[in-house]
Amino acid sequence: MSDSHPSADRRTLLATLRDYVEQIREEGMDGLPIGEPPAAASPLPSREPEAVPRPAPEAQPRPTVKAEPPARSVELFSKYPGLEAAGSLQQLHEFIGDCRRCKLWPMRTNLVFGVGNEKAELMFVGEAPGADEDLRGEPFVGRAGQLLTDIIERGMGMPRSEVYICNVIKCRPPGNRNPEPDEVAACEPFLFRQIELVRPRVIVGLGTFAVQALLKVKTPISKLRGNWHELRGIRMMPTFHPAYLLRNPADKRLVWQDIQLVMKELGRPIPRRGGS
Ligand code: URA
Repeated sequence: MSDSHPSADRRTLLATLRDYVEQIREEGMDGLPIGEPPAAASPLPSREPEAVPRPAPEAQPRPTVKAEPPARSVELFSKYPGLEAAGSLQQLHEFIGDCRRCKLWPMRTNLVFGVGNEKAELMFVGEAPGADEDLRGEPFVGRAGQLLTDIIERGMGMPRSEVYICNVIKCRPPGNRNPEPDEVAACEPFLFRQIELVRPRVIVGLGTFAVQALLKVKTPISKLRGNWHELRGIRMMPTFHPAYLLRNPADKRLVWQDIQLVMKELGRPIPRRGGS
């Protein structure tokens, strides 16, 4: 008798394929390359969160490389009359309400608005809720979320509740597929209003999709990370998405470099032990 059921094999294969597609997406590629997948995709890498690595000695602050993009608030907010009158996160949440402004609403369990400190100095912006976030109605609560929490609490030495965390898209795309342009267009006025209301000193953009949506560029995250960008007068540091780090733990070293730049910008001490 065979050890595994054929449908279990199929599920494993699909999970591997999904991981691989997510990985090349995170690396900034638009399509599947022809040929052998990168070694990290096979066999399936461990998804266990690992400790944030110690500071790399070569981490050096780098200057801001991008000019502030043109203010688009007027254009963005005119899409939803009354949006600008939402003067607090609670009012904005109420304004969004039981949202049916794009095609994602019938598939969601919960809309995932955002969580944390309304007066946060530091804001993290991810891509879109996954299955765990959809069930809980809170961003970054699954395995990638646990790693983000480790980065914040063990790496940066801050309670998660001190920062603000949200996503570009507030409802889960089916099967965790990429958000589509019409979904981004429907949701991004809410993200930019959230940014205006929190007005953090620093935004950390998590992963290709979030950073490209924030900066309106197509540059891969590997080229954007580690450099300061400017988003409506707010310093913005792109870095790898925690889900990518679960598959590529060696790159935690680079994220830790980016996080050290953020800590320096905020004038905060870097904990002696970086989350080990
Ligand atoms: N990935 C994201 O980009 N956001 C979440 O909230 C969870 C996983």
